[in-house]
Amino acid sequence: MIQVDDVRKKFGEQQVLRGVSFEVKKGSISTLIGRSGAGKSVLLRHMIGLDEPDSGHIVIDGSDIVGMKTRELNKIRRRFGVLFQDGALFDSMSVSENVAFPLREHSELNEKEIQDVVIQKLDAVGLRGHTEKYPSEISGGMRKRVGLARALALNPDIIFFDEPTSGLDPITRGAIYRFIEKTHLDGHITYFLVSHDISGVMAISDEIMMIHDGQIVACGTPESFRTSSDQVVRQFLSGSPDGPISID
Ligand SMILES: Nc1ncnc2c1ncn2[C@@H]1O[C@H](COP(=O)(O)OP(=O)(O)O)[C@@H](O)[C@H]1O
Ligand SMILES: [Mg+2]
Repeated sequence: MIQVDDVRKKFGEQQVLRGVSFEVKKGSISTLIGRSGAGKSVLLRHMIGLDEPDSGHIVIDGSDIVGMKTRELNKIRRRFGVLFQDGALFDSMSVSENVAFPLREHSELNEKEIQDVVIQKLDAVGLRGHTEKYPSEISGGMRKRVGLARALALNPDIIFFDEPTSGLDPITRGAIYRFIEKTHLDGHITYFLVSHDISGVMAISDEIMMIHDGQIVACGTPESFRTSSDQVVRQFLSGSPDGPISID
């Protein structure tokens, strides 16, 4: 579904991505892990066409989005749902208005149809009873779930998640993963996650990639990570400050 091929990106003197390559299989939950500052969000921005690489290719379902004209890119973007790190909800809109927003912008549905979809998506993330609240009136975990409902609104083929559980307590994190798994099962959608919460993503991912020093250093099933003898992977999993990954 997605092929990232030798993507390089420099910001000033800082080479953030040094030839990143991997594939995301259709219908999978695939997760990119790596330390804070490793370049995960930068890579995700490239994959959704918000940033252009210095070189390399990003092929989404057969189309290379690098160098693509805005009109074409926007067509492909319609097939994406994105859950940004901070949730990126509109504070001045209610929960239901937030979920309705992409439908008003990008669909031809009438008001009744929009409300039906909104209820259906909020139901899928367990928020049916909170439609008229505002983002400031709900918890961090609920805001992430509204973000997920909004990402699902247009029935996308792929959803990109940037740190879907950051800033949440362990129980709420578990609940978010459960909703991610459930909605993935409902829709047979391809999910691509970026996270540094290794234990959480191990449980739900089909495939895991690890980025370090601007490159993919490991890639495989959660089981292959658990049993990996690679020192970089082992250090990341154990959280030890001693090892090949230097602390700065
Ligand atoms: N627009 C930008 N301009 C300059 N540097 C950036 C920009 N975006 C990210 N960076 C740098 O790229 C590195 C990777 O950032 P990021 O992808 O946000 O890390 P993370 O893996 O935590 O998501 C960081 O050192 C960050 O400062
Ligand atoms: Mg990030």
